[in-house]
Amino acid sequence: MNRIAPGFIRANPQLTRAGELKHLLTIEGLPRVLIERIIEIATQFAVQLPLGEARSGEARSGEASQGPEQSSAYAPIAPLLQGKSVFNLFFENSTRTRTTFELAARRLGAGVTNLDIQASSTSKGESLLDTIRNLSAMHADIFVVRHAQSGAAHLIAQHCAPHLHVVNAGDGRHAHPTQGLLDMATIRHYKGGFRGLTVAIVGDVLHSRVARSDIHALTTLGAPEIRVVGPRTLLPDGIEQMGVRVCHAIDEGLRGADVIIMLRLQNERMNGTLLPSSREYFARYGLTPERLAVAAPDAIVMHPGPINRGVEIASEVADGPQSVILHQVTFGVAVRMAVLGMVAGVLR
Ligand code: CP
Repeated sequence: MNRIAPGFIRANPQLTRAGELKHLLTIEGLPRVLIERIIEIATQFAVQLPLGEARSGEARSGEASQGPEQSSAYAPIAPLLQGKSVFNLFFENSTRTRTTFELAARRLGAGVTNLDIQASSTSKGESLLDTIRNLSAMHADIFVVRHAQSGAAHLIAQHCAPHLHVVNAGDGRHAHPTQGLLDMATIRHYKGGFRGLTVAIVGDVLHSRVARSDIHALTTLGAPEIRVVGPRTLLPDGIEQMGVRVCHAIDEGLRGADVIIMLRLQNERMNGTLLPSSREYFARYGLTPERLAVAAPDAIVMHPGPINRGVEIASEVADGPQSVILHQVTFGVAVRMAVLGMVAGVLR
């Protein structure tokens, strides 16, 4: 692996002194060599996963379509985390992230504890850090944390015992690093790399931690044209400073795009009315077959999920031949295996 500058390591709380991954909190500032390494390890794991829905996809490289099949989603592939405890702490709802972290941990032979937040003592007023101190006392090794507050995972990483590792599974609007990484693994799989790619990120960028993580990853990996597409009310002021081009007209944003990443309207994070109605939003920004036709003929369509059919994407597109939405989910298991193994120091 290429060396990472010592000054950079000191400034990055995610890295050990040797420049390895101690926590995964954000893609911002993560060295390119580490991002590439995570994708590389994940791609190796993807070959061994049962691919379910993803098997029907037309994989360009074919890598994810060839591996031996396992009979159970829990069967350990590589018992690298045997004897370790992964605690899934989801203070916000999740289907994909929580489940794929659990599958990833079990695939590596770890024990998994899913904290039921609704039934936990958080509802009796216990602070986040007190909850973490108590769970640490139960000999946790890795905390996977989703929280509505931006910065929650950083806070835990700052205050937890030195042997613990924290993986951010989405914090407020701030970051969703494993989603960003699985999106990059998916793009690399279908497009072979990032050189020459035009990527359009469409929709509610303002409230999207996925958009921020994708933009950091794409710029670090050298994607030359990243467009953010949406109404003024859903694009943050100054987003151009992240190295993206702003488009308010969807046809302009999609023209010639190789990759289209659709975003969900994050109604739970909106203060007040930012849109007239979801029907009008679909009329102006929904991805329909006609709009998809202005993108590159071999464009892939992505969405982090959950999708809202008829709001941000038409069913014909979500279920159509260019959609890789369910394949992203499968890559999620492989990427999370790579991340868990790397923060625990058993994969390099
Ligand atoms: N993409 C994603 O984070 O989905 P979940 O909210 O279901 O985890």
